[in-house]
Amino acid sequence: MMKYIIEGGNPLVGTIRIQSAKNACLPIIAATILTKGKTILRNVPKISDIDNLLFILSGLGCRVQWKDGDLYIDTTNISYNEIDAEVAKKIRGSIFVLGCLVARFKQARLPYPGGCAIGARPIDIHVEGFKKIGIKVREARDYIDCSAKRIKGGVVYLDFPSVGATENIIMAAALGNTTTTIINAAKEPEVTDLVRFLRSCGACINGEGTDTITVAGVKELQGVDYIPIPDRINTASYMLAVATVGGNVVLENVIAEHNANLIEKLKADGCKIETKNNNLQIIKDKNQITRKRNTSMQTSPYPGFSTDIQNQYMVYRSTVSGLTTITENLFENRYSIVPQLQKLGATICVKNRVATVTGGSELTGGTCENPMIVIPNDLRGGVGLVIAALASRGVTIVERADLVKRGHESIERDLGNLGANIILKVQ
Ligand code: UD1
Repeated sequence: MMKYIIEGGNPLVGTIRIQSAKNACLPIIAATILTKGKTILRNVPKISDIDNLLFILSGLGCRVQWKDGDLYIDTTNISYNEIDAEVAKKIRGSIFVLGCLVARFKQARLPYPGGCAIGARPIDIHVEGFKKIGIKVREARDYIDCSAKRIKGGVVYLDFPSVGATENIIMAAALGNTTTTIINAAKEPEVTDLVRFLRSCGACINGEGTDTITVAGVKELQGVDYIPIPDRINTASYMLAVATVGGNVVLENVIAEHNANLIEKLKADGCKIETKNNNLQIIKDKNQITRKRNTSMQTSPYPGFSTDIQNQYMVYRSTVSGLTTITENLFENRYSIVPQLQKLGATICVKNRVATVTGGSELTGGTCENPMIVIPNDLRGGVGLVIAALASRGVTIVERADLVKRGHESIERDLGNLGANIILKVQ
């Protein structure tokens, strides 16, 4: 069991270097199954979701090594093997292995994948897409079996621009001699990054970043040296931490365009944000009287507001004056943070998909002897509670640090370097 012990109140001042995006690294790591030889991925966070996926790759005979924050994967001795059920259940990312294994070995069996407890997270869009391109899919109670003598290709219309389904179908279709067109594809930067990675390996794919992606299968793909995009979700979380707590922070290795909507919202609230090259500076004077501003936000596929920063934005808006109406359109369980924030003094009312936040609350933790304890249910909720604890007077314990560690190599190191009073306690 791991938890964060946080004493709030310190402004955040300094620099954080953003690592490569978890949600880009996961499909790219899976995609190395399609390649022959060695791949180097740069600036990869050493987090549990990635470790679990690497465990799956090791089970297939891949050689995996970490060196100075870079990840080396050698697929020379890869061969088909069944995936360990315990590991597959731990991460949603294990679903990517399915498309890659069928493409490379014409068969795959995967125990149903896990992931954060943020909703039902079905895989029907993946399955329908696979069937459309000629993959036979058999769903049993505990696992899913896929096989295909040959990927036929064709046109796949997605009912919803699912990020994972788009990525999975791209990977399943990348080898062979047929063409697959995905219509209503996801436009997230992580999808674009996967396509760029595959293209650098020799794949023939077009249309990334638009809603129509065309994949022309190729005979083989080679390993490469690649730098995945910086993590736009962690960038947003740290921006929101500064906006909530106050301070002056430079985030290095950022693609500001990926957070354009959040930057606009924070500027409208009075935060100073400047971007230069790949750096973003955010300044928020804690004593600045912010003008009361009502606003609304709804989560939607990119370039809409990401569901992965909804909780952190809710924490921030709890502390500045004005009403905020939040609509969560992606995942049904993404308000589990609300009762925990209410314990700290936030005023939030939830009705179905809509949360109404009455801002301007002073958040309060406990004392050293009797700290306030809050318990997240998922990764982003955990990050939201860390931000809330930093903004709270007194001492707060954020339980389930293991959830935060799914997406942050060391949030305590990053925030501690900025002057936050946060320690990780391992029991
Ligand atoms: C990815 C991200 C996750 C982010 C989410 C939405 C990774 C590893 N994870 O998750 O952090 O929150 O995108 O931006 O990249 N759906 C179906 N059937 C399916 C697939 C999805 O109904 O077969 C629904 C989901 O329940 C959800 C919506 O579609 O309501 C979006 O899901 P999707 O885009 O697939 O998210 P993930 O790829 O799981």
